[in-house]
Amino acid sequence: MMTSSITLVQRSGIFKYVLIFAVVVCLTYLWHQELRHSDTNQLISHQLQRKHHLPGDYSKPQTGQETSKNDKQKLNPNEFRDKKLKELTETAGDSLKLKSEQDMDETEVQKINSIRNSCGQLCDTSRQGTPGPFFDHVTAPIDCKAIYNNPYIDEGYSGPPPKKIPKEFWNDYTMGNRVLIEEWYFNQIYLNGKARTPIWTKESVDGQIRLAAQGRLTGPYEYNERITLVEGLKHAPGIKNGRVLVVGSESPWVEAYVLNEGAKEVVTLEYGSIKSTHPKIKTMIPSEFQKSFFNGSLGLFDAVVTFSSLEHSGLGRYGDRLNPWGDIIAVARTWCVTKDKGSLVLGLPIENGTDFVRFNAGRVYGKVRSPFLSTNWKQHFKSDHGGLQSTIVFTKTT
Ligand SMILES: *[C@@H]1O[C@H](CO)[C@@H](O)[C@H](O)[C@H]1NC(C)=O
Ligand SMILES: *[C@@H]1O[C@H](CO)[C@@H](O)[C@H](O)[C@H]1NC(C)=O
Repeated sequence: MMTSSITLVQRSGIFKYVLIFAVVVCLTYLWHQELRHSDTNQLISHQLQRKHHLPGDYSKPQTGQETSKNDKQKLNPNEFRDKKLKELTETAGDSLKLKSEQDMDETEVQKINSIRNSCGQLCDTSRQGTPGPFFDHVTAPIDCKAIYNNPYIDEGYSGPPPKKIPKEFWNDYTMGNRVLIEEWYFNQIYLNGKARTPIWTKESVDGQIRLAAQGRLTGPYEYNERITLVEGLKHAPGIKNGRVLVVGSESPWVEAYVLNEGAKEVVTLEYGSIKSTHPKIKTMIPSEFQKSFFNGSLGLFDAVVTFSSLEHSGLGRYGDRLNPWGDIIAVARTWCVTKDKGSLVLGLPIENGTDFVRFNAGRVYGKVRSPFLSTNWKQHFKSDHGGLQSTIVFTKTT
């Protein structure tokens, strides 16, 4: 009797320890999973990240939010950038494993080659530029009608986003092996879907403009990334009193900053359809935009603003077709609808260094691709606070 009750007590004691041990093991395991997950893009400096938003993740939240008090204290630009570049270079070492050995579907090859034809010299990235303030300056004749008209540019791709780069277009993606390829895969089919914040009310946008005016509006990005957009807007002559095109925006935080800087009217172009009840914001999906371009009702813009969006174009991540020049064509299309001397405010992961395609998460722009991305746009101003996203302002030249 005695013995067995002691055993029971002992057992329950041991059981308790076993339980605690198991819980600790589980938590450690989960924590490691989390770390491993973020390891895949070792950009992540843990001091800089908030869990819900990894800068490399490019995920966008529902709405703009108010700045947290210690937001600015998270700045540590040099450490962040050094670590990021070192790690990117290391992981990009085995680029070639991302090259598909299988033949790409013949029809698909033809469609991509048709895009190349419509694009012409603009997509010939083997050309030489001339020195510019931040990187080389490149010019090309742009056939605006052709790049708005080619049906394959905006057509979605059926099936999951490809995991590897087709060998047929390897040279185009790597720009003749001058761009490193890194693996970082997403499947976020989104084309023709709904935007994450499908209704922008006057009240919610005005609320965000008020926060922007007080310097308290956060967006989906870190302080040292957002601030580059604000500085860029202040240096872009087309914003104040201007008619402004915003490209790729799921929540109206960029629009709020643009309106706060005095824009008269904003047109937002986004894949997912958005209903705006704000009198100064009109939204369009690509097919509407294209129709308005051709029937002449679109008109021209004084400025174009895009933040952390175009670096994804043509990588298939959002259900778009693989298109080695998707980003270049997207910027060229904005050139087509901008007034002479109008501004382009371009926020991107942009580096004064190495170029990467992080397939299929996004591109990091260095000296090699930046000139082609901004074909025909004159470099005017750069704001870089050491975050992944920097902002460059350009002026349209014809
Ligand atoms: C870019 O980096 C080079 C050194 O690699 C430096 O000389 C140059 O000033 C930098 N340019 C800009 C615009 O930061
Ligand atoms: C042009 O196309 C747009 C988009 O379909 C449409 O809303 C608009 O009414 C058209 N305008 C004219 C003048 O045809």
